[in-house]
Amino acid sequence: MELRLGNGDGIDSWKEVTLVYSAALRQIETKMEILNEEFQHVHQYNPIEHIKARIKTPESIVKKLKRHGLESTIDNMITHINDIAGIRIICSFTSDIYRIADMIRTQRDIKVIAIKDYITFPKQSGYRSYHMIVTVPVYLSDRTVDTKVEIQIRTVAMDFWASLEHKIHYKFEGDAPEHIKSELIECAKMVADLDSRMLSLNDEILEISKKLEQERELQRKKERE
Ligand code: GTP
Ligand code: MG
Repeated sequence: MELRLGNGDGIDSWKEVTLVYSAALRQIETKMEILNEEFQHVHQYNPIEHIKARIKTPESIVKKLKRHGLESTIDNMITHINDIAGIRIICSFTSDIYRIADMIRTQRDIKVIAIKDYITFPKQSGYRSYHMIVTVPVYLSDRTVDTKVEIQIRTVAMDFWASLEHKIHYKFEGDAPEHIKSELIECAKMVADLDSRMLSLNDEILEISKKLEQERELQRKKERE
């Protein structure tokens, strides 16, 4: 279970894996908190409802490697498993998802490795979410390790659906009865519709508040004259 990459930037023990990946996770988490606070300051609005972060368990990593027909080595883990460090960002509206993804993309030290837009192209199961695999540099005492993190960005409604679907998937070991699968697809459509209606409603409210504020400003100006 030992690996040293050619440039000496390797990770050679499970302990080090956990250390590096949890450091990467903390960095992304902090970046998201900063963006959320700054957004609140500038726009008086929080795009992020909450954040969940987790490190994949060793059992789950070994299972995934086996599924891909790979030996359980640290080298294989680092190269082939993109979600050892995972962070889930939950937003109110679909528009927030793309806003956050853009803010992540433009950070200079973050490198985007892959994107999967399951909102524009939902999965057959009905699953919707925006996924990014990124790397973030982790500065150790004697070297820097670019570390992969899987970021999933979704709305509260998408998260609600995904949690139930995940539970059902587990319960039936991926082989749920047809009527349950089709009911889930139906619910996914309702979730997509709910997301889009809530977004329109919010846009309308913002528009009305803007107009009201302009009218008040005009009134104040008149009173001063
Ligand atoms: P995994 O091997 O499961 O990690 O999938 P992948 O490497 O093909 O990547 P993908 O982007 O499809 O999925 C990554 C993660 O997204 C999964 O580990 C789940 O957390 C989530 N996910 C993907 N598809 C579904 C789905 O149909 N239902 C639910 N509930 N979650 C999903
Ligand atoms: Mg996964």
